[in-house]
Amino acid sequence: MSTFDLIDHSIEAYCEAHTTPECTLLHNLNRRTHLETINPRMLSDQLQGLFLTFISKMLRPDRILEIGTFTGYSALCLAEGLSDRGELHTIEINVEYEDRIREFVSQSPWGHRIHLHIGDALQMVPSMEEQWDLVFIDAEKEQYPQYYELVLPKVRKGGFILADNVLWNNKVTQEIAHNDRDTRAIDAFNNTVQQDDRVRNLLLPFRDGIMIIEKL
Ligand SMILES: C[S@@+](CC[C@H](N)C(=O)[O-])C[C@H]1O[C@@H](n2cnc3c(N)ncnc32)[C@H](O)[C@@H]1O
Repeated sequence: MSTFDLIDHSIEAYCEAHTTPECTLLHNLNRRTHLETINPRMLSDQLQGLFLTFISKMLRPDRILEIGTFTGYSALCLAEGLSDRGELHTIEINVEYEDRIREFVSQSPWGHRIHLHIGDALQMVPSMEEQWDLVFIDAEKEQYPQYYELVLPKVRKGGFILADNVLWNNKVTQEIAHNDRDTRAIDAFNNTVQQDDRVRNLLLPFRDGIMIIEKL
């Protein structure tokens, strides 16, 4: 989501005013996404984008996997931190986004390191023969538990998974309606991670909630 859902808007504005602005490429992608897509709130914005860039720069990963590309904003941010031999693979199920993703990726200095896969992550992740240093989960909320079980065995020990929207607009702390499958899945994901002795985890109340998971 592109706004703080948990924090007062004056705090959001203050944080944005005291954070390095987007580069021209990200600014243009942000703008085009708002002009041309139905649900631009799905985009990572200036703050989350730079958060992802900084995490990636601190880790200097060789292999990044992203599940849920949308228009490519977070992929461009994460790619900035790749090691000299690093590569990022990103999976997007909606073919309608493909041309726009490729247009912007081609303009990035890290574009040649970004590999876009159009298809269903549930089918593609098992066939990818990589060991991931960093995984960003940001696709269908109902499928978070499945993404987690698919990627965790492929994350190297000491590697990290980031999962976005784990507070789901604060719905996880309220009574969950029986038919609210997204919130139920996010809550199940959070509980699974919390009880999983293969990992150490931090639920960071930043924007819509980011679960940071270290594989032990
Ligand atoms: C929240 S958006 C991703 C936002 C993007 N990571 C960013 O921060 O700018 C989620 C995306 O996941 C895609 N998606 C949903 N289910 C998927 C699946 N099973 N495999 C791959 N992509 C999927 C959607 O089409 C959508 O573009």
